[in-house]
Amino acid sequence: MNKVNKVIEEDSKYLMQSFRRWYPLVVDHAIGSLVYDVEGREYIDLNAGIGVVALGHNHPKIKEAIAEQMEKFFHYSLTDFYYELAVDVAKKLSSLMPFSAKVFFTNSGTESVEGAIKIARWHTKRQYVVGFINSFHGRTMGSLSFTSSKSVQRSFFSPLLPSTLLIPYPDKRNPLFKDVDSLMEFVEDWLFEKVVDPNEVAAFVLEPIQGEGGVVVPPDDFLPKLRALTKKHGILLIVDEVQTGIGRTGKMFAFEHYNVEPDLVCLAKALGGGLPLGAVVGRSEVMDLPPGSHANTFGGNPLALSASKVVLEEVPKLLRRVNDVGKEIMEELMDARSPYVHEVRGKGLMIGLELRKGKRPFKEGLEKALIESFRAGALPIGAGESVVRLLPPLTIEEELAIKGTRIVRESVERL
Ligand SMILES: Cc1ncc(COP(=O)(O)O)c(C=O)c1O
Repeated sequence: MNKVNKVIEEDSKYLMQSFRRWYPLVVDHAIGSLVYDVEGREYIDLNAGIGVVALGHNHPKIKEAIAEQMEKFFHYSLTDFYYELAVDVAKKLSSLMPFSAKVFFTNSGTESVEGAIKIARWHTKRQYVVGFINSFHGRTMGSLSFTSSKSVQRSFFSPLLPSTLLIPYPDKRNPLFKDVDSLMEFVEDWLFEKVVDPNEVAAFVLEPIQGEGGVVVPPDDFLPKLRALTKKHGILLIVDEVQTGIGRTGKMFAFEHYNVEPDLVCLAKALGGGLPLGAVVGRSEVMDLPPGSHANTFGGNPLALSASKVVLEEVPKLLRRVNDVGKEIMEELMDARSPYVHEVRGKGLMIGLELRKGKRPFKEGLEKALIESFRAGALPIGAGESVVRLLPPLTIEEELAIKGTRIVRESVERL
């Protein structure tokens, strides 16, 4: 039996099989935007470990920073003690926000969303939180209450968090969505008049661009109008930038595309440069929880923070090329000659190509396109029901990006 099959067989024996794997990639090592499997085959990384390694794999500056920190200490819980590295990264994150901010470090995206919800409830002393259908915010009970991009994510896990509401995201594919004004009217005149008093709503939580749900870019007036509505009622705005943040969409944070200032920003994925690190970054006056009310053991791990310091220094220098390379990838995909390409959309290096067969999502087409791309040496992933999603490292060389995109395009054309 070859190594690939052996690992996959033992994986199915010893690991819970609740994941959705698109193709049988068994990673051995990776460097920059290239990944090598255990049989020595080379692949172009078009997903960056699901949007994590923004600076590519094994970035020399990150390796150096971690090695340096390893000589000092691996762990010393921030919840009981102090270290300067945490202050440095929090200060840097605060400087990147349009408001004076405080930070709570977490270990993952879902923990950042959980934290933001707790902070919003505590600060406002209100209990309701409103989310949007087709979102992905994580898998733990609180964040799962707002995750709704596939019903399998929620099946048999109920009851979830009480006092949560889900409304349509401004997605032109949703038959209940007409335009942003009608959506805001629905919230004011129906939700707030008939379901919940706005004085009991702590926050709205949303992805500025839905990732897992299919790379859904809302109309430009959505965030500004939602911000105005939430402000009017003293409701907080939580933006989940776990996927869109840290340069992914061509701005440091996706909310910057829309000229709004949120109250709480959830981060993870790219923040730790490949090490587990998340954060809730919030307006200083909102982050006013008292001692003992919220904490964790591992949040702000020193090795992860040392990597994060490099990420936060390097990513702002990459934003222009994120936009340039992103445009080239989109153009390449738009040229695909296939009756199944419904739309190519995205911002920066967060790109989706939706496949449809007639009016229906072409699910088998997605599975086939991903497997074919993998066999030909590129690693895109899926999103929504039938969207090929590209989230390459922000550092991907132009030539490699185009080569990988061509592989994806040809896989789609062969459907
Ligand atoms: C927007 C968004 N929020 C939250 C999460 C959950 O992050 P994690 O898997 O680190 O818990 C994800 C993960 O894909 C995400 O895309």
